[in-house]
Amino acid sequence: MVLQKNDSEVLKTMRHIQLTIIALILSISVSSLLFAQETTEKPEESVILENTKNADAAESLTGEAVEEKATDAEEIVETEAGIKKEDAAELENEEEAEADTDEEAEAEDGEEEYDEDTYGPEAPIIWMRPVKGVAFVHKVHTMDAGLDCDTCHDDFFEMEAGAAEERDDFIMKTIYEGGYCGACHDGDSAFAANTQCATCHIGVMGVKRENGEEEVGH
Ligand code: HEC
Ligand code: HEC
Ligand code: HEC
Repeated sequence: MVLQKNDSEVLKTMRHIQLTIIALILSISVSSLLFAQETTEKPEESVILENTKNADAAESLTGEAVEEKATDAEEIVETEAGIKKEDAAELENEEEAEADTDEEAEAEDGEEEYDEDTYGPEAPIIWMRPVKGVAFVHKVHTMDAGLDCDTCHDDFFEMEAGAAEERDDFIMKTIYEGGYCGACHDGDSAFAANTQCATCHIGVMGVKRENGEEEVGH
């Protein structure tokens, strides 16, 4: 009697272990599938969720084989997520690009070529009024100095080339008092506007150069 009972108990325990392992494998496969569908929406959140799920699953069981399985599944899921993330970025889906993947994409791009979507228009903005010609270049401010678009838009400038020069106060006095470029070019955040005049004032010759015209003498 005693032996029989022990036998059936051992069998029961083994069956339990078997079932638990099967259940775990199933749950990992199912959650991987689910996750693969979710990735397009919110890659990073899903990765975190998935990792938590796998960690929970691994925790609820002992045995290295099982933990290894969980880790494998995690790696596959992460790789998938990585590929999906790249795809999403390439889709030029602005909303998604603006979300979590944005910063990573920037970090990866590093020294890469200028991207107008990220750093603003590449061509310099040149004002001809009241004096000819003052140049503003987005690259030095966004890509190089790391300023966000909303640092300038629309507090100091509209997103429309030439808008500022329609205003009567677009003059040095306003700039020296902290308006327009003077919000930063005060000798503190950036070089002061009462120095290096020629850095902003590219002059008549500068305008011709920007327009690709031949340089002619005075
Ligand atoms: C340091 C200030 C500054 C920052 C930062 C800045 N801009 Fe601008 N932006 C300007 C100025 C100045 C103009 C010209 C406005 C004018 O002429 O009145 C301009 C104009 C524009 C225009 C209109 C161009 C055209 O041809 O009509 C766009 C588009 C623009 N910015 C996009 C951006 C984007 C996108 C960012 C962020 C990546 C950005 N800007 C960051 C200062 C800035
Ligand atoms: C939100 C702050 C901010 C505003 C507004 C701003 N700048 Fe700048 N600017 C900077 C910073 C920061 C730098 C880089 C540090 C430096 O050169 O002092 C810079 C650098 C420059 C440079 C130097 C580029 C080079 O080749 O070294 C020029 C030219 C310039 N700005 C022109 C302008 C003009 C023109 C305006 C107004 C139409 C303007 N900036 C408005 C922050 C600003
Ligand atoms: C940070 C950029 C910047 C610097 C530096 C700068 N300017 Fe200007 N300046 C401007 C802008 C922007 C305008 C208005 C647009 C235009 O006239 O084309 C302007 C306009 C002017 C004007 C015509 C309007 C007025 O105020 O009478 C004069 C003159 C002038 N600047 C002189 C100077 C002199 C002199 C220096 C050096 C001591 C200087 N600027 C340095 C950006 C700058």
